[in-house]
Amino acid sequence: MKKLLLLIAVPVYLVWASCGEPANYEAVAPDYQHIGDSLIGATFDTLRSALGAAMKDRGAAGAVAFCNEKAYPITATYASQHITIRRVAEKFRNPGNALNNTDALQWNKFVSEKAGGKGIEPILIGENDLIHYYKPILLQPTCTACHGDREKDILPAVLTTIDSLYPDDLATGFSPGDLRGMWKVSFVK
Ligand code: HEC
Repeated sequence: MKKLLLLIAVPVYLVWASCGEPANYEAVAPDYQHIGDSLIGATFDTLRSALGAAMKDRGAAGAVAFCNEKAYPITATYASQHITIRRVAEKFRNPGNALNNTDALQWNKFVSEKAGGKGIEPILIGENDLIHYYKPILLQPTCTACHGDREKDILPAVLTTIDSLYPDDLATGFSPGDLRGMWKVSFVK
């Protein structure tokens, strides 16, 4: 009988021990990368379908004006009191998306990872009471209509609209596969 009890007690203890404190801690610690990826995925899908609809209804030049008005509010769709979602870039179109010092450090790492021919790894960085999740944005073929070569890829009417809305635009001359910018999701710890 004693032997039988022991046979039951040991596995029960092992199961109990493995669900003890460390496992509970894991369950409550937020997985910033996982949440960041989901937010970026949802934001990108929302932006892409809004942009696609605007291109269809108003043409590429009209879609530029649409982005000018709506890119910020759409990017903030899934933000909350403790989470902000932004796109930042070295060669920005909207000066509000310029890199700050923390962004620039990460940007330089992404640039050298890309130049080294390895994959670019998204990263979490702590700054005071914030955690930033950075993820690279690579240019896709459809993006060249507004971010490609000024003569070859961008229609004259689109260029006129870009130049009038963004007189200091830096965001042309990209080819598919180029590092265009970074997603930046910031969490209050
Ligand atoms: C119809 C034209 C158009 C297309 C197509 C387009 N963009 Fe843009 N993009 C813009 C405009 C306009 C802005 C500036 C929005 C603003 O004022 O916030 C912008 C801003 C951005 C930014 C923010 C940084 C900055 O430069 O201000 C990124 C990153 C970006 N685009 C990436 C892309 C990618 C990647 C694609 C393809 C998947 C793409 N864009 C397709 C017009 C376009």
